[in-house]
Amino acid sequence: MALDLYQYIASIPDYPEKGIIFRDISPLMADGEAYQEATDRIVAFAQDKGVEMIVGPEARGFIVGCPVAYKLGVGFAPARKKGKLPRATIKAEYDLEYGKSALYMHKDAVKPGQKVLVCDDLLATGGTIRATIDLVEQLGGEVVGCAFLVELAELNGREKLKDYDTLALMKY
Ligand code: PRP
Ligand code: HPA
Repeated sequence: MALDLYQYIASIPDYPEKGIIFRDISPLMADGEAYQEATDRIVAFAQDKGVEMIVGPEARGFIVGCPVAYKLGVGFAPARKKGKLPRATIKAEYDLEYGKSALYMHKDAVKPGQKVLVCDDLLATGGTIRATIDLVEQLGGEVVGCAFLVELAELNGREKLKDYDTLALMKY
């Protein structure tokens, strides 16, 4: 029988601020069977999409995206925070609760026309994934899907993903 992945998410009240329940994926990552099952479910979602490249945002998008890339036998390209990539980059900004942030990718990280699956651990407001999609599209890539372990539904991140086939393995 399929594992109940919800059992591998720790819910931490009042972190990082009072009133927030933080959903921590680290127990899932720490359990080989659960990590493998989560990866396999994303791989199954990707199967008929012709995925040629995985893109994931720093840092937890790497944890989800890299094993999916390995299983599919395709490459992985990171979307990184400022000052981390050594060659020519492109940039996409997104809103934080207070102020703005930005993600960057190498200009040659995705080839025009390449079919890309974007992976991250968690969908909250959707700012991070939207910026990641913008980067892929600036490079001429085609986002064929978005995959998350966890979606925080009340934050309405899905509103920003209306045009994309989106999978979340767990919803709160
Ligand atoms: C967290 C999480 C997602 C993002 C979700 O990353 O891993 O990437 O926030 O929030 P959003 O949908 O409102 O954009 P964080 O920016 O904390 O970076 P980290 O992975 O480096 O810890
Ligand atoms: N858990 C992990 N990362 C997050 C969360 C959360 O509940 N909210 C925003 N980023």
